[in-house]
Amino acid sequence: MTTRTLFLAALLACLLPVAARAAERKAAPLAAPVVAPAAPAAPAAGAVRVVAGDATRGAALYGLHCASCHGADARGGGPLAAGLGAPAPTDLRDFAFLMQRGDDELQQAIAGGGKARGRSYTMPAFAAQLPPLDVWDLVAFVRDGQPSVAEYFPAAAHFTAKTYAFDADGLRRLEAAVGALAADEGKMVLVTAYGGDKVEGDAPAYVADDPRLLASLKPKLKLGYLGFAKVKLPGLPEVPICLALDKDGAVARVTPRLDGLAEKDREAVAKLLAGYEGQGGKKSPYAELKFPAPAPAKGKKPAPKKDAPKDGAEAAKALTRPYLRTVEAAVQFDKEERERHWAD
Ligand code: HEC
Repeated sequence: MTTRTLFLAALLACLLPVAARAAERKAAPLAAPVVAPAAPAAPAAGAVRVVAGDATRGAALYGLHCASCHGADARGGGPLAAGLGAPAPTDLRDFAFLMQRGDDELQQAIAGGGKARGRSYTMPAFAAQLPPLDVWDLVAFVRDGQPSVAEYFPAAAHFTAKTYAFDADGLRRLEAAVGALAADEGKMVLVTAYGGDKVEGDAPAYVADDPRLLASLKPKLKLGYLGFAKVKLPGLPEVPICLALDKDGAVARVTPRLDGLAEKDREAVAKLLAGYEGQGGKKSPYAELKFPAPAPAKGKKPAPKKDAPKDGAEAAKALTRPYLRTVEAAVQFDKEERERHWAD
């Protein structure tokens, strides 16, 4: 091969994936989403691979077409919301909601309206007004800033997402640990991540709540869990958080959703949530979280153990509630998993 043909071959190799992606992007909105899961061996069938739209363009489109109902901040409280009756426009910044929808499902809801997804007719269809690429830009905007399963579990190939209403045993354990639960604390959205074979670079695929698909997820490949909640830290507005637990139930990470918060509040939230990693789990199952002692400055002896500052103690207490609710949801998930795999 001459240098020139080599160069051409290299150039082609670079361009082909771009062309393929462009074709995919064009084709994606038209392709019928593969939701009907025929083969239990292929849980990835629930997810149609889509090239990301442009969230910035999406934000502008959102302001024009969606903010009137879903609110300028996308949290569901637009000026038209009150007149619609129930259900209210969805809070599009809710982690738990977003985890339970694939990109293809968001696209269907926007293009085909609520009725295309078996939901309320008050969510209008936009396919007649907006070209398909605009709809994908809106999907990108809705997704923007959402934690991805891969961010917490880079090895994840699949994940499930399900809302658990706590059973009587769970409620008893929880109330004994944290006191009476508010009405909306009786349930929890749980994501469970699994490793396994996947194409390098592919996002983990959502596995729908279908017994045949779930049976294909091997318990020994389980990586951990994500729980979603809102937490009210002392002196700060309520923030949505995502709690990542490893497969033994220890805290792997806690991340807040910070958009919409003032700069000083962001710092305060980040400070109160830093450093919980490793608490709970097998070492201390069902334990309250403790405000983490600040790491000693380099070269200095660890500071003498003092009681947590008042804010810190309150923050730890506030965080213990969603933490134990996530643990409880994981207990229920594991129970169902054992029942699915008893014959393995
Ligand atoms: C006339 C008011 C109205 C407008 C305008 C509107 N929506 Fe909605 N939307 C709703 C309501 C109400 C729901 C809740 C439907 C339900 O839960 O049954 C909803 C639900 C949704 C959902 C969730 C669907 C699901 O799977 O549960 C998405 C996503 C969404 N809207 C996106 C958008 C986007 C993007 C726009 C702008 C292009 C938009 N909406 C414009 C009222 C509206």
